[in-house]
Amino acid sequence: MSIWKKKPLEKLLAEAADSEKGLKRTLTAWSLVALGVGAIIGAGLFVRTATAAAQSAGPSVTIAFMVAAVGCALAGLCYAELSSSIPIAGSAYTYTYATMGEFLAWIIGWDLILEYAVGAATVGIAWSEYLNDLLINVVHTDPIPYAWSHSPFQTSAEGVHGILNAPALFIVSIISLLLIKGIQESAFINGLIVILKVAIVILIIVIGWNFINPVNHTPYIPQPSVFIDEHGIHHAYGGIMGILGAAGTVFFAFIGFDAVSTAAQETINPKKAMPIGILGSLVVCTFLYILFAHVLTGVATVEDFRTGGKEASIAFAINKYMIGYQWLGQFVTIAILAGFSSVILVLLLGQSRVFYAMGNDGLLPKMFSDLHPKYKTPYKANIAILIIVGLFAAFVPGDIVGDMTSIGTLFAFTLVCAAVIILRKTEPNMVREFRTPFVPVVPALGIIVCLAMMYGLGWTNWTRLFIWMAIGIIIYYFYGRKNSTLNNPDKE
Ligand code: ALA
Repeated sequence: MSIWKKKPLEKLLAEAADSEKGLKRTLTAWSLVALGVGAIIGAGLFVRTATAAAQSAGPSVTIAFMVAAVGCALAGLCYAELSSSIPIAGSAYTYTYATMGEFLAWIIGWDLILEYAVGAATVGIAWSEYLNDLLINVVHTDPIPYAWSHSPFQTSAEGVHGILNAPALFIVSIISLLLIKGIQESAFINGLIVILKVAIVILIIVIGWNFINPVNHTPYIPQPSVFIDEHGIHHAYGGIMGILGAAGTVFFAFIGFDAVSTAAQETINPKKAMPIGILGSLVVCTFLYILFAHVLTGVATVEDFRTGGKEASIAFAINKYMIGYQWLGQFVTIAILAGFSSVILVLLLGQSRVFYAMGNDGLLPKMFSDLHPKYKTPYKANIAILIIVGLFAAFVPGDIVGDMTSIGTLFAFTLVCAAVIILRKTEPNMVREFRTPFVPVVPALGIIVCLAMMYGLGWTNWTRLFIWMAIGIIIYYFYGRKNSTLNNPDKE
């Protein structure tokens, strides 16, 4: 039994070709870009931008977006090489299995739960904030009581304690059911939502530009100081460290472009479509984000984002400062609710495909790779994920799950960059439809930028990452190591 055993590439590719038991191939390059943008624009932009400005960078959150985009582009080039040469469900997990062996593959698979499942919970929590905004400002009725729309670790300004975040739990449950029914229908709905989402981002940039107050942008990079949040956690505010911390936070806004790669097995001609899907969606979003963050921090103040505008920050800024545009605030709230749903969908889709792959490999129970007899979706994986995501969504505060998602994903990106360098050495002759340029420089820079952002997220998040990983290692020791099909060929 060896924990360093690698999954042979031929075996991986043969599994992918096995169309009898495989997933349906229905996605094209453009549905991948839509899937990518669908996953990308979400709570990162509409909630975490304000958090990053409040806690770390003020207006210089725009620079943080640039840093995060550079890190993602470098990692994206690595993802594109791997997903075009190993077009199999499972993304970074699968690549690691082929390049660095079973133990590290498990580590990354376990880590991807932070990205996809905990990420979906984060967006579910943001959805809950905007649902209350919808009830107050659009429907003009009472919001869901604080206790039932917040986690037990949150307390309102009036001293009311949270019990459970019911709306967050509700939305992740509905979307899990939609996914069980099938990806084709889901991709169609996603396409509609993507158009709506891009439309509101552009509207806010264009209309909001006239409401920028230059005072809010002065100084653009605040003087270094410390900000202590409601949980008592210290954040470096201002200066370079503030920008790095903010980059780690808004990095959340880019998460999802790699989720595209998890749908490789459902893509027509994945070798061509994957690089277009991954890099195309990244480029579109980066432009929009920088402009959007510039407008948002110009319209409202950092103090707003620390107090009344902490939740549903975009609607707050419009309603408070953009007089005469209340209709925009209402439209934004509705569009954001729809937009968040598509993000949750893609993240849960990515997570279920990772579980599917891990079930197939025996690192998780085999049942996770069972396909629904009619819908051909890994429905048992979807149900298990719903339980995990539901627990996080209902009981953990949004900024905690948000930063856990960021640090977990950055860690995954680091390993993906390393995998490209290793695979060029160990499998030099593998067919690569897309080649990452300037290897090893590009992957090495990717590793450096991602590690810098992880550093900026602070020791509390490192501790959470270590605890999460320690739990994963224990599970591997007692389960995966003994049950993996690679270590037990007779079980296949
Ligand atoms: N990028 C996605 C979001 O911002 C996860 O919601």
